[in-house]
Amino acid sequence: MCGIVGYAGPKPAAPLLLNGLAKLEYRGYDSAGLALLTGNHHLNIIKKAGKIGNLIAAVKAAKVPASITSGIGHTRWATHGQPTDQNAHPHMDCSGRVAVVHNGIVENYQHLKKQLQDKGHQFRSQTDSEVLAHLIEEQLKKHPWKEAVRRSLAQIQGTYSVVAVYEGEPHTLIGARSGGGALVVGWGKGETLLASDVPALLAHTRRVSYLDDNEMAVVTPTGPSFLNVLTGKPVVKKVSEIEWTAEQAEKGGYPHFMLKEIMEQPRALEDTFTSRLDPRTGSVVLEGKFWDSPFIGKFKKITLLAMGTSYYAALVGKFLLEKYLRIPVDVENASEFRYRNPILGKDTLAIVITQSGETVDTLVALREAKAKGARIATICNVMGSSATREAEGVLITRAGPEIGVASTKAFTTQLGAFWLLTLFLAGKRKTMPVSELKKKAKELSRLPQLMAGLLKQRKSLEKIAHEYAHYFNFLYIGRGIHYPIALEGALKLKEISYIHAEGYPGGEMKHGPIALIDSKMPVVAIAPKSSAVYEKMLNNMEEVKARQGRLIALVEKGDKLAAAKADAVIEIPSVSEDLSPILSVVPLQVLAYEIAKKKGREIDQPRNLAKSVTVE
Ligand code: AGP
Repeated sequence: MCGIVGYAGPKPAAPLLLNGLAKLEYRGYDSAGLALLTGNHHLNIIKKAGKIGNLIAAVKAAKVPASITSGIGHTRWATHGQPTDQNAHPHMDCSGRVAVVHNGIVENYQHLKKQLQDKGHQFRSQTDSEVLAHLIEEQLKKHPWKEAVRRSLAQIQGTYSVVAVYEGEPHTLIGARSGGGALVVGWGKGETLLASDVPALLAHTRRVSYLDDNEMAVVTPTGPSFLNVLTGKPVVKKVSEIEWTAEQAEKGGYPHFMLKEIMEQPRALEDTFTSRLDPRTGSVVLEGKFWDSPFIGKFKKITLLAMGTSYYAALVGKFLLEKYLRIPVDVENASEFRYRNPILGKDTLAIVITQSGETVDTLVALREAKAKGARIATICNVMGSSATREAEGVLITRAGPEIGVASTKAFTTQLGAFWLLTLFLAGKRKTMPVSELKKKAKELSRLPQLMAGLLKQRKSLEKIAHEYAHYFNFLYIGRGIHYPIALEGALKLKEISYIHAEGYPGGEMKHGPIALIDSKMPVVAIAPKSSAVYEKMLNNMEEVKARQGRLIALVEKGDKLAAAKADAVIEIPSVSEDLSPILSVVPLQVLAYEIAKKKGREIDQPRNLAKSVTVE
């Protein structure tokens, strides 16, 4: 959702900013723009509705000289005002000397806008963001650049990451962050960058500092300095080294990031286990002091908080944690959590599950759980993200950068992480015999290889996809630990193909959804034989067939009984029930991908969606 890039250095700014914005396309956007400080220090704003291609054409037409070496860029995902050229960022003040880009929402913008209009300010857009440019213009009447920005930011309520430029100080960019949204400062050699997300920086530097709440970065080619927005006092920031490489954030020959990321899953899962899981002893090592603290042996309840695909991973996590630890586990949709006075306290371990670590609903829930006294851990894919900075315990999934909006490798590594956590806690709290720990660890360590074999089935999934791509609705059914996989399978399909799809527990069918079944309704039944409720799933499949539903059955290899009932069969290897979700979701990802491809959809950036949802 909205992307920001800023550059101060010796290189031509326009191509560099455009490349940076292209790396952030995956976040989802509907317009894009640049503010460049021209040779004579005038601000030049170029912005266009639609894809970055439109902006590239406009920059080319404007013949931006290579001597321009500082500027800011933005991709906008509309919240206030339609996705038009006018509402695209950057936004300027009345004088045209200040430009700002903003992610988030200025909650008190109407009040501020009225005050500014009363003072004679003219607004050109319908956005909330424009007020910041005018606030800075007002403050510049009394204060120098840095102080003017600081004082303006202090008047804003809501969540933001912003970067501002001023033609009076063309080589000093100012960035700031509050509430939600990320802003990362990249320490280059003789150049300094700002970005809302790491992939925009990887081509230039891997040395970064993450802004925390109410922090400001004053960025010049020689480096950044930091201060607190509210007090104006200097802040010393840690410099971290990013492990991801620039190549990891490229398509690497695949037509789509989503396909690349699906295919990367065996590697991602293996990396997530490496140096943590020991199949010989059944022991698990997790990094960080929190996991060895006395609390780990004492907590009485677990609350899992997440959104979307991460929420479905948490539903699988609940099965594992409750089964092997015998501790009550609540799974909460993070966006609902703080609005219902949830019950948790000092003996609760709250775990937030988030690929990006920047999902605002999840972060707000994290803070609510913390305020209520719970201890916080996170299963997260992005080291340095807000979730990892705000949690005491961090379990990083090593999926590498996930660029496709539809989450795939993040999900399977989250499931892998839940297994690590379950075995780790079960070992610490002695709730599983060592023989069982060893058995599970051994089975887990085989999964990457089994998954790689499974991915060779792509051709047969493509065939099924072509046969079913013209249907308008799909149901996905699963029972027990496979029910979350039905939800995830349906989410994948709807996100990228725009086909209406819903997931249900098999047992729910007769309570309503079965009314939908006829010959125009494909039903994907997740029915591995290892399931404790396999027989019941077979019954559900019969019920679908009896009503002429089109049955796609996901079965264990060699299960002729289940396969015989189906119009199309997807096979997965036999593994024990608790482990099979990590495998069964993979063909459902491929099926959704192939259907979306057949329908010619924009797979990596589906309409209306953003990779990381940074506004509530
Ligand atoms: C998954 O395909 C989604 N695009 C979405 O549901 C996502 O999982 C959700 O927004 C949560 O994101 P997070 O894991 O980064 O917090």
